[in-house]
Amino acid sequence: MNKLFAANWKMHKTASEAKQTVAELVGLTSGKVKADREVMIIPPFTALASAGEALRGAKNFLLGAQNFYPQKQGAFTGEISPGMLLDAGASFALTGHSERRHVLGETDGVVGTKTAFGLESGLGIILCVGEKIDERKAGELRAVLERQIRAGVRDVPKDIAPEKLALAYEPVWAIGTGEVAGPKEILEAHAFVRTMLSEIFGASASEMRILYGGSVKPDNASEIIALDNVDGVLVGGASLKADEFSRIVLA
Ligand code: PGA
Repeated sequence: MNKLFAANWKMHKTASEAKQTVAELVGLTSGKVKADREVMIIPPFTALASAGEALRGAKNFLLGAQNFYPQKQGAFTGEISPGMLLDAGASFALTGHSERRHVLGETDGVVGTKTAFGLESGLGIILCVGEKIDERKAGELRAVLERQIRAGVRDVPKDIAPEKLALAYEPVWAIGTGEVAGPKEILEAHAFVRTMLSEIFGASASEMRILYGGSVKPDNASEIIALDNVDGVLVGGASLKADEFSRIVLA
């Protein structure tokens, strides 16, 4: 299974800025990315086309989207469908990112509906899960992860192709804070996620990627990526500059 290095740009970059950053990144990494690594750029909707254009032809580069609405089309002002994302060149999308859950109010149920609908529509999905600091302090890590995973994949067919569904463990207290989870915390959470996936999906769970996200930087990426059950990283802040993200991709 290829390791995935995903750049979540959140609400950053215009179309032309995105094009320039991707072009720089492709230039900096060209011919140097290990054969078992994939790089995914996840820009805002308005930059999907230009980012896609800039990465076209670059080996092992993919395009992803940050969000979608779980309907084919219709009277949903302001929303975007999975079919529109596929048409714009995205092959994956995020669901359940902590900012969608905790800033924009998405419930476990909504995340589950989106995950199943996105997969059914032909997108690959990166389902994000993770505990808040008060939940960790209260000893609720496993309970939170179990609840988010079970609800997140509730309607996903048990025989889903494992390369289509990835999980991202992103402790909320480590996102954008500079406070990265330590190896012990990452190992524990990722092993638990793998166990949950095995319970739900059986043998194919060993082929599902589990990414770590939360303050990944060039100086901690190689240690994190080498840990057991870590099949990639989901990077926010440090993915915005081509030079910084290239050092993570090449770490
Ligand atoms: P960060 O964000 O790397 O800035 O902590 C990660 C994420 O939100 O996916």
